[in-house]
Amino acid sequence: MLLLAHRGASADAPENTLEAFTEAARQGADGVELDAMVCGSGEVVVCHDERLERLARLPWEVRTTPWWKLQKADVGSPLGFAPARIPLLEEVLLSLPPQLIVNIELKCERFDDDGLARKVARLVRDLDMAERVVISSFNPLCLFRLLAVAPELRRGYLIDPDRRWGVQAYAVSPLVSSHSVHPYYVDCTPERVATWRAAGLRVAAWTVDDAARASELERMGVSYLITNRPGAVREALRAAA
Ligand code: G3P
Ligand code: MG
Repeated sequence: MLLLAHRGASADAPENTLEAFTEAARQGADGVELDAMVCGSGEVVVCHDERLERLARLPWEVRTTPWWKLQKADVGSPLGFAPARIPLLEEVLLSLPPQLIVNIELKCERFDDDGLARKVARLVRDLDMAERVVISSFNPLCLFRLLAVAPELRRGYLIDPDRRWGVQAYAVSPLVSSHSVHPYYVDCTPERVATWRAAGLRVAAWTVDDAARASELERMGVSYLITNRPGAVREALRAAA
């Protein structure tokens, strides 16, 4: 089972920052998960929240704030870390060691994605990273768009535990998932994992920091574990083996 650092090693560094991705590599993660969205001036930035109250104590909406201004937001201090800034997706992709897998989550809760799927696909192609990238989304429309512009890129459907974007049946549709399904770990049962695997898909469970739960998911046949603490989970899995 491969360990992907959720928003980078976000228990030990500010989430979705260059520091968190560096820390993930240092902890020996197999890859990273990150959240991508389009900002007000059109660049793809790495950020989880639509608005910056939690991350930077600022009343800014990422979608309408230009990049020059977003760079001034400190997304480290409010989370208890040293000051840090929101990075561009391109910066993150260029900074990652070549052995790391990258799970890019397309964050978009609307019908119009502001070109997110197209822009991410172009970056992954331009940087020649298709072999180590998996692109996921809760929003099937993002994955349909990705299929239309870059059918060769691996798509993974994030199963929303609240089912806001439809039912689990979507997960095994080749229109949305070509590579993997990404369920909340509580939604993983041996039967479901077996069904997804029988459909030719890998399973990426999120977000698990508990060693016993991680072992259980590994036994079920989960391929990727998305965790805030890749170093500690790796150590615990090794000790239990
Ligand atoms: O991709 C797994 C996980 O990141 C999905 O939830 O809200 O942390 O982006 P969230
Ligand atoms: Mg995410």
